[in-house]
Amino acid sequence: MQTIAIVNNKGGQGKTTTAVSLGAAWALKGYRVLLVDFDPQASATAALGIEAEDCDTTIAEVMEGIAPITQAVLPTSIEGLDLVPARPSLAEANLYLVQKIGREARLKKELARFQDQYHFCLIDCPPSTSLLTVNAIVAAQYIIIPVTPDFLSMKGLAQLQDILREIRSNLDTDVRVLGILPTMVDYRKGATHEALEILRENFKELVFKNEIRINVRLEEAPSHGKTIFQYDPRSVGAECYWRLAEEVLQRCRRG
Ligand SMILES: Nc1ncnc2c1ncn2[C@@H]1O[C@H](COP(=O)(O)OP(=O)(O)O)[C@@H](O)[C@H]1O
Ligand SMILES: [Mg+2]
Repeated sequence: MQTIAIVNNKGGQGKTTTAVSLGAAWALKGYRVLLVDFDPQASATAALGIEAEDCDTTIAEVMEGIAPITQAVLPTSIEGLDLVPARPSLAEANLYLVQKIGREARLKKELARFQDQYHFCLIDCPPSTSLLTVNAIVAAQYIIIPVTPDFLSMKGLAQLQDILREIRSNLDTDVRVLGILPTMVDYRKGATHEALEILRENFKELVFKNEIRINVRLEEAPSHGKTIFQYDPRSVGAECYWRLAEEVLQRCRRG
């Protein structure tokens, strides 16, 4: 199992959309995928049409040590894509963790139970640098960083790099950034072209070739509880994520 955390401490960067769409694309291609909703806002859970209130066990109980992660896994409407749901109390689990030994490796330990069950595990991180995000990074081999090509988001990227450096030098992990993903790319805006140019100049090959364009169908899909491939498989958004799924597979293979 290859574990990939979708990370950016800034909100509204396309993390959840990327986690759900990549997971769905890989499942449709025949891979077994586990998506862990690791955000107390439970957006990935909702986007897959699952009500957090209806879930007996979520990642919150897992992080608090009340239940094993195997008990929290749910099937989704896409065969091959399973979900570990979140609920708002995950925010309290973060506080609970603060006083525990081995607190940064809790998720990693739980995910080890699935080693032979899934090809991929995707972790949808919260927009913060809490202990939850640290847990996701420690559990992962790879990180994908979605970023919208605008001035403030790109400034935030420098801060995120400092955080990653800090984690690598202090914790037992050799996590690697698999790629930086431009999302919600709007070519009609003048500033977009400039921002993309700066991004590619600074990060070179680390930036994925496939950019995710802005597409209203991607914005609509979650309110219908459907992934983009179910909601509108012919949309630009579906096409962008389908291609990205292939590019990420190639990068994972290269190691
Ligand atoms: N490519 C896109 N085109 C249009 N809307 C998008 C796109 N990607 C994400 N969105 C919308 O933008 C908002 C923020 O995206 P989301 O994936 O939830 O970001 P994050 O998880 O980083 O906070 C959501 O309403 C989502 O539906
Ligand atoms: Mg999100």
